[in-house]
Formats: sequence, C-alpha cells, structure tokens
Amino acid sequence: MTEYETILVETRGRVGWITLNRPEALNALNTQVCRDVVAASSAFDDDREIGAIVLTGSDRAFAAGADIKEMEAKSGLDMIMDDHFGDWSDFAAVRTPVIAAVAGYALGGGCELAMMCDIILAADSAKFGQPEINLGVIPGMGGSQRLLRAVGYYKAADLILSGRMMDAAEAERSGLASRVVPAADLLDEAGALADTIAGKSLPALYGAKAVLDAALETPLAEGLRLEKHVFTSLFDTEDQKEGMAAFREKRTPDFRGR
Ligand code: CAA
Repeated sequence: MTEYETILVETRGRVGWITLNRPEALNALNTQVCRDVVAASSAFDDDREIGAIVLTGSDRAFAAGADIKEMEAKSGLDMIMDDHFGDWSDFAAVRTPVIAAVAGYALGGGCELAMMCDIILAADSAKFGQPEINLGVIPGMGGSQRLLRAVGYYKAADLILSGRMMDAAEAERSGLASRVVPAADLLDEAGALADTIAGKSLPALYGAKAVLDAALETPLAEGLRLEKHVFTSLFDTEDQKEGMAAFREKRTPDFRGR
C-alpha cells in the first residue's frame, strides 16, 4: 500500500476510506494534501473492487480551508503559474461516488472539497462557510460556482460576502448537506451509506454520476439526451439483466460490475 504524508487510507470491503490527517493545522489543504488525496482517490477509482469512497476529517475539522500559510507570500502571478488548486479538479473528476463525511469545520477550501463530492453527510457539529472574504480574497476552489448551484444565489451571496459560518441544520435546510446525523454516528452512517452504494452495479453508478454531473452544466434538452443515451446503454450490461431478473424472482441482485 502506498504511503501518504497527510492522509490515512484504508479499504473496507468495497469502500475506500480517505481520512485527512493534519490535526496540527485543522486539516488545512496544502499542496501535499492535494497530491495525496488525488493519488489515493485515483487509485481507488482504478480499482474495480471499489464501488464508493468516503472522504472524512477529524471530529474538530473536516478541513479549515486551503493552507493560508502556504499561500500568504505568493503573488497573483505565482498563483497563476503554480495553477494553485488546479490539481483538485482531478479529485472532482473521479468516476466513483464519493461521500464527504463532515464533522467540525468545513471552511473555504474545506467546504469546496466537500462540494466536489457527491453526497455531503454532515455531523450535527459541522460548520460550513466560505470565509475567504475575511482574508481579502474570494473562494478559489470552486466555491462561488458550486455553492451557488447547491444553495441558490441569495444564500451563497450571504455566505460568501459576509464570510459567516452556517451550522449543519442550516446547511441541510439550504440543500448543501444531504443529511445531518449525530456526530457520534457520522462514520457508521457514512460507512453504511457507502456499503449500500458500493453494492450497486458499477456501470450504473458511473452512469448515474456522469448524468448528475452533466446536469450542473448542460441545458435541459442536452442533459435529457445524455440521460437517454446512458439509460439505454445500460441495457447492454449483464447487471441490468441481473437486476431485473432479481426483481422478478424476488431476490437480492448479485451485481458483477459488467
Ligand atoms: N491554513 C493554515 N493553518 C490553519 C488554517 C488554514 N486554513 N486553519 C487553521 N489553521 C491552523 C492555525 O493556524 C493553528 O495553527 P497554530 O497552532 O500553529 O497557530 C491551528 O490550525 C489551529 O487553529 P486555531 O488555533 O485557529 O483554532 P481555533 O479553534 O481557534 O479556530 C478556526 C478554528 C475558526 C477554523 C480558525 O482556525 C480559522 O479561522 N481558520 C481559517 C479558516 C479560513 O479562513 N479558511 C479559508 C482559507 S482560504 C481558502 O480556503 C481559499 C480557497 O478558496 C481554496
């Protein structure tokens, strides 16, 4: 198993677990964290035995943002030339469904990282926000675009312009958190949800994620065309035959990922 500096990685059944592990910096996202998360998620993505990924942090912080100390001295040109944050797009592009299990702070890049996942399971201790305005900048890992799509213009503007945090209940009401669970149950709930997802047909999961992603950026007619294409293509999989036979025979399907 590859050694990582800033994350813990584990496989449990068909689920890949990635735990951010920089407790001294509340899991602030520096270049090494990006490198590690991208490498680990891509390794899981390339493994046909993995059907879901859980990304989590600690009780205190999912991640308190991009690493401010790493960025502080840079110029605008440095940030452009480094393509600082650019590699996170590789994480956002994984095919496998990813659950963000969020406890404590998910601020700035931490909130943006959660929003690169497909499902945000929030502990009741979670606090979400885009506080970059307090640092004299704006969200830089997709927050202005993904938060707006998740919660609408007025809630996104409220958060991004004021820099305030919202608690888990407000995040769920706003459509950012998929669900809120007691903090003590977060990892069990995330594991159970990930096991459920990982038990489905892999081609169907990839297809579902692809059409959901496309819905964020395509006009309706184009999105519907893509949905029809993916839906009909799935009828050429063994898993579709198995899923529908299992329904008729009143048994649990045994999906093989093909
Ligand atoms: N970058 C670097 N270090 C960070 C950090 C960050 N984003 N967040 C916390 N830390 C460090 C602190 O500097 C501190 O380290 P030291 O002990 O060496 O001083 C340690 O983590 C613990 O933090 P605090 O002592 O501040 O803990 P607290 O409980 O008093 O406060 C907090 C917690 C409210 C989350 C506070 O740490 C905080 O405001 N953090 C910054 C949040 C932020 O502004 N995030 C946005 C970053 S910019 C960004 O993300 C850009 C983008 O769009 C991608």
